[in-house]
Amino acid sequence: MLHIALAKGRIAKTVMHRLADGGWEFPEYSGDSRKLIFTDASGRLKVTLVKSPDVAVYVRRGAADAGIVGKDILIEDGADDVYEILDLGIGKCRMAVSGIRGQRDVMKKRILTVASKYPRIARRYFARRFQPVDIIRLNGSVELAPLVGLADVIVDIVETGTTLRENGLEAYDEFMELSARLICNKVSYKMKQSELQDFIRSCRFEE
Ligand code: PRP
Repeated sequence: MLHIALAKGRIAKTVMHRLADGGWEFPEYSGDSRKLIFTDASGRLKVTLVKSPDVAVYVRRGAADAGIVGKDILIEDGADDVYEILDLGIGKCRMAVSGIRGQRDVMKKRILTVASKYPRIARRYFARRFQPVDIIRLNGSVELAPLVGLADVIVDIVETGTTLRENGLEAYDEFMELSARLICNKVSYKMKQSELQDFIRSCRFEE
């Protein structure tokens, strides 16, 4: 049996649909269930729903053979000791610096206050531009920060742009293309190669 750790949230829904299209049946899965482990009807595939930053932990430690998670998380938290084997081409989005619409001159401030769920990515972005920053790590709804005066700008993912638009913000610089990746445990990569290939083929992830 192949065990996949799947990042909860948007990616999970897309992947579960893709699996269903590929012929995998998960009788107990429904998008709004609180269940965390699903085994397919043939007993060949197990999917566990895991918080995004934990996917690489499960895979590295062999608690899952493979994982599906956004590249943003892999860059931010690191993905040492696992193989990144495929860009799945789903969950596409961009990492961007954003702020209040029409106020991009704020970027010229001597010291910029930056709110982000991705402090490492944010720090690197501004370090490359020799821009001094004060980074505030937040855990979600980052778009609020410029609106309440907590930060000048945010560094966050933009998918449809709806969240920015509906909150009077705009992207000042979209600087990184992102998508979901398949990562694999190093031992499983050797020992379960044919199962992995079947899985990839059945989901048509290679297209
Ligand atoms: C992500 C991201 C943005 C939003 C972007 O948040 O942090 O807020 O999605 O998507 P959009 O461009 O399609 O509007 P998520 O929904 O994961 O929630 P969070 O803010 O609680 O992290």
